[in-house]
Amino acid sequence: MKKIYGIIGDPVAHSLSPVMHNAAFEKLGMDAVYHAFRVSSEEVGDAIRGAKSLGISGLNVTIPLKEKALFFVDAEPIAKKIGAINTIDFSSGTPIGYNTDGIGSLRVLKETVGEIKGKNVLILGAGGAAKAISFYLDAKGAKITIANRTKERAVHLTSKLSNADFSGLGVELGKRIEASDILINATSVGMHPNEDVSLVSADMMHPDLVVFDIVYNPMETKLLREAKRAGVKKIVDGVKMLVYQGAASFRIWTKEEPPIEVMENAVRDALIREKF
Ligand code: ATR
Repeated sequence: MKKIYGIIGDPVAHSLSPVMHNAAFEKLGMDAVYHAFRVSSEEVGDAIRGAKSLGISGLNVTIPLKEKALFFVDAEPIAKKIGAINTIDFSSGTPIGYNTDGIGSLRVLKETVGEIKGKNVLILGAGGAAKAISFYLDAKGAKITIANRTKERAVHLTSKLSNADFSGLGVELGKRIEASDILINATSVGMHPNEDVSLVSADMMHPDLVVFDIVYNPMETKLLREAKRAGVKKIVDGVKMLVYQGAASFRIWTKEEPPIEVMENAVRDALIREKF
């Protein structure tokens, strides 16, 4: 029987996860389909219980449900620590929750910089995405600075990490970036439709900085344009992170090796074609 997978969130209509996973199923000749389901925050528990009853094989969870969904699954320890899930596997009968955002970002950075240990990483943001990324990088021995608009959230996240400090987004940010090897935007700043904003400008960056934006729509954010202007040599857009977190979910659900290139091309083609 055809296996059904999907993503729950709100809004979810513009998610590229269906395009990405359906391309992977097609490439591997699997009898499976992936849909987007719009689910409100109030209905997340019903949606997860309903998915189990309907025999749905696996779900991704996106904004704004990642934290709330945790209460309706048995979560792996790291997802509990992060306080959010983005993947549910129903294959054992009980919904099991995972967080593959951190794995996705780690893989992107390993490919880009190699060894993470000892690197100075400045993360913009202290929300769900920043948490997942920082827990994984912290575990790999990076020295992390969390820079966030709301200071309390930065302070709170920093207190949960073993080697981390916090900063505001004001004048001190420039000095922090000067001392950083890697800059990651884990906020929604620069995302469609508010594309012409960036928390960091070219004059704050140096050419040896690695600049990674988790925003994938648009593919080239204002932050990445500023990085180019600053002569930054290693620039990474958000598509790879989307693909790698999706690939990790795919492995959990299917126990198959996902066709990464096919998934990445499907996402890039859709972004170019559809011009959201
Ligand atoms: P997610 O789960 O996608 O990380 P989130 O938990 O709502 O979403 O977090 C969004 C992050 O983007 C936060 O760090 C937020 O800063 P605050 O903690 O101050 O709210 C950051 N963010 C969103 N819009 C921003 C803006 N216009 N300027 C600066 N930071 C912004």
